[in-house]
Amino acid sequence: MQIEQRATSEVAPCATPAPDYTSPDGAVRLYRGDCLDVLPTLEAGSVDCVVTDPPYGISVKGSVHHRQAGRGSRRLDFFDGDEDWPMVSAIVKRAQVQTLRLVNECASAYWFCGHRVFSDLVRVFEEEGYSTRFIVWSKACPAPPPPGSGWSSGAELCVYAYKPGRYFDGAEAPRSNVIVADSYRHGQPGKVDHPTQKPLGLIQTLAQVSCPPDGLVLDPFMGSGTTGVACVRTGRRFIGVEKEPKYFDIAVKRIERAYEDQALFTQ
Ligand SMILES: C[S@@+](CC[C@H](N)C(=O)[O-])C[C@H]1O[C@@H](n2cnc3c(N)ncnc32)[C@H](O)[C@@H]1O
Repeated sequence: MQIEQRATSEVAPCATPAPDYTSPDGAVRLYRGDCLDVLPTLEAGSVDCVVTDPPYGISVKGSVHHRQAGRGSRRLDFFDGDEDWPMVSAIVKRAQVQTLRLVNECASAYWFCGHRVFSDLVRVFEEEGYSTRFIVWSKACPAPPPPGSGWSSGAELCVYAYKPGRYFDGAEAPRSNVIVADSYRHGQPGKVDHPTQKPLGLIQTLAQVSCPPDGLVLDPFMGSGTTGVACVRTGRRFIGVEKEPKYFDIAVKRIERAYEDQALFTQ
């Protein structure tokens, strides 16, 4: 009940603004801005699957560092405000509540998350009548640990939430909830300038398993647009939101490139 009240009070729908990018076939719509401003403008009940990877608060002191070739490491400069963990986690929770208005009865949701926020996401879904499970992304070749931390980060968690009538394509599903995929390395084909780009194959699997062909996938924290590329490649429609202009531009380029690749493939 508490969540229902939050959901209706926080997400009163507003007029829908034009997307900042629309693909020529209209299947991909991208918004440059804060998802907390954009989500209330989207059509209720229109989304078949949420696949998202919100900020983990990785710029927090003592958390992940980026290695620089031959120069040790530095703190990850991710996006403005990422070091303010209470603020980041509050944004993620509000965005989660807002997406509940947008999904239809057969929808599923995948929320990648850091360990600090996992139980918060689960609680909100379960209070709203969803069942939840977890997915693990196991990194085929994890990066060395940040200085002083000891443990390498070889896996990441994802909350999977669904209702009884959910769409689920078992033929596309991996054998278990542990999915092995490699993270991108600098200089690797497909790697773009985003510090936490998710593996395309991993995201593509989730979209194919839980969104029907031609269905609509939403990613309120799309970063470099990996979820959008997965949708173009698999014939799903996509709405993505990204607040950092630099990453938004990368997402547009990647999605345009995915369309060009599709056109070459079908010639
Ligand atoms: C973990 S990254 C997503 C990476 C993405 N999965 C990829 O493969 O590139 C999270 C993204 O959310 C963006 N972000 C943070 N707060 C946001 C907000 N309030 N609205 C929209 N985007 C936001 C960040 O700039 C960052 O690019």
